[in-house]
Amino acid sequence: MSLKINSFEEYQSKYKQSIEKPDAFWDKIAKSFQWQKDYDKVCEWNFEEPNVKWFLGGKLNITENVLDRHLEKRGNKLALIWEPNDPKDPFKRYTYRELYEKVCEFANALKNQGIQKGDRVVLYMPMVPELAIACLACARIGAIHSVVFAGFSAVAMADRINDAQAKMVITADGLNRGSKQVPLKRVVDEALENCNSVEKVIVYNCLGWEPNMQEGRDLWWRDATDGMSKNCPAEQMDSEDILFILYTSGSTGKPKGVVHTHGGYMVYTAYSFQNVFQYEESDVYWCTADIGWITGHSYIVYGPLLSGATTLMFEGVPTYPDAGRFWQVCDKHSVNQFYTAPTAIRALMACGDEHVLSYSLDSLKVLGTVGEPINEEAWKWYYLHVGKEKCPIVDTWWQTETGGIMISGLGSHSPMKETYAGYPLPGINAVLLDQDGNEIEENEVEGYLCIKHPWPSIIRTTYGDHERCRLTYFSTYKGYYFTGDGAKRAANGMYRIIGRVDDVINVSGHRFGTAEIEDAINSNRLAVESAVVGYPHEVKGQGIYAYVVCEEMPSDEDFARGEIVESVVKQIGKIAKPEKIQFVSGLPKTRSGKIMRRILRKIAEGEADKLGDTSTLLDPDVVEDIVKGAIK
Ligand code: WT7
Repeated sequence: MSLKINSFEEYQSKYKQSIEKPDAFWDKIAKSFQWQKDYDKVCEWNFEEPNVKWFLGGKLNITENVLDRHLEKRGNKLALIWEPNDPKDPFKRYTYRELYEKVCEFANALKNQGIQKGDRVVLYMPMVPELAIACLACARIGAIHSVVFAGFSAVAMADRINDAQAKMVITADGLNRGSKQVPLKRVVDEALENCNSVEKVIVYNCLGWEPNMQEGRDLWWRDATDGMSKNCPAEQMDSEDILFILYTSGSTGKPKGVVHTHGGYMVYTAYSFQNVFQYEESDVYWCTADIGWITGHSYIVYGPLLSGATTLMFEGVPTYPDAGRFWQVCDKHSVNQFYTAPTAIRALMACGDEHVLSYSLDSLKVLGTVGEPINEEAWKWYYLHVGKEKCPIVDTWWQTETGGIMISGLGSHSPMKETYAGYPLPGINAVLLDQDGNEIEENEVEGYLCIKHPWPSIIRTTYGDHERCRLTYFSTYKGYYFTGDGAKRAANGMYRIIGRVDDVINVSGHRFGTAEIEDAINSNRLAVESAVVGYPHEVKGQGIYAYVVCEEMPSDEDFARGEIVESVVKQIGKIAKPEKIQFVSGLPKTRSGKIMRRILRKIAEGEADKLGDTSTLLDPDVVEDIVKGAIK
């Protein structure tokens, strides 16, 4: 079943084959999975509409590949280790057989509550095993899961529920996060005041609270599963049937529902997981992401479990009870592969080396990062203090829309250089384009990162709005998937991701559209207009800087700031709080009324002396005022 590449030479030859004959390349990989009915054709595509289909005519259920096919050989192997928020609480373990039974039991509960193939189910959950179980249970019966990160507000959740027209919400009373407990059910209740599609809410009891339970609508997880069979036949799915929707931000409008499907997503997440992390049969693998993001979907749940791996899931945060928590968990469970985000590394680095130096970290073999460019200092600290100079770092570049890792090292088999993600995986035809959309052939260049040929887990559509998918990803450069990132290619062909070239801000590896935050700010009665940009932030990568125009300049700025922040928290969630808010008399605009973000970005970056040409502005004086009042 191994899909693994075992040397750099093998990588090079596989890469070449995959570009020359992509169908043959993917056919071989896809054949190693369990299909209920074989596919007739590997791939059919055009990037104009776009229309991309993989493994056409194939019938399968991804959960048979996640669970059933492991039972014979790995029935007693650990599938999932769950480490709680508080190290004093007991951890939990599930073998593949136990996980199979839990998933089937909950799948039967879903059916019993009227959920059918194709129905959408929104999950708003803590990082507990039941979240993974609920995802898999949906997939088992052909329902479409849509996980909403438990840090989003009621308004943000309602938007997603309504867009997906979800029939059910699965949630918990509340969650543990470090020393805090956060209510969830209460947020769901608030969201549901504005949603008509939801018929049932299943509530997992995580904290022992007694939340409001609405008669006829809400029921406890334990009651829903009571008496359910631990076997549940897997619904037969077409390769191209939707597996899940995951909402993500773009440069315009509201977050959009990225759609992934059973067949392609299965093949690509397993393939990339095994190659990037070079997982071996008895390893324990740990990804610290939240399942509310794509990283958790692909590399806590699906990729590892499809590969028969032991995957660790962590409820807590990196700094509770202290900044050694990650390393303590690595030692406690003898973690072999560890995958985290640069923002976490930087935050821990700032807490002092003593927290990491007191752990052995002997078991570690491969370290990974994801979510944003990693700076040199953080890379070196990770390599030296966590990896003890013996673990390769795989800097994995990918996106919600790509479903899986696209550019990265393959364990220790690839050349490695700090701040470089490295080479595209075999099957990923990455190119750089110039301003005019021409491919740049040579090396030592910078350009717009695009992909020329589909891969199995490419976004299929944006739920309910296919045209938006076309416009966002396939219209900028005809015939290419456009990533929205700029990249540099070094003399040896390695890629370094520079960052977004659109109006997307990456805060601690989380994506926000400037428009989305501006809309939230503008919903406040004080604000008339606003413009939001990102600026470099020591720990978060980027921070949010908001320029806000009010009817009148506020007399108490701190009070007004508090109000604005409150609006953002209400509309999106705490994770989108602007770090800096400057009240301005006007925004720099062109004569046609377009906000000149380039100028605002420079000011936020503290480079007001490098504004460039401002002569095309409607009112150049505005800029002078903004520079004077800029927040350091
Ligand atoms: C954007 C995608 C993919 C899971 C987490 C984020 C940035 C992601 C890297 C990396 C530099 C990276 C890109 C990308 N990004 N990984 N290794 N190096 N930048 O998923 O929310 O869909 O965001 O994150 O800008 O476009 P996402």
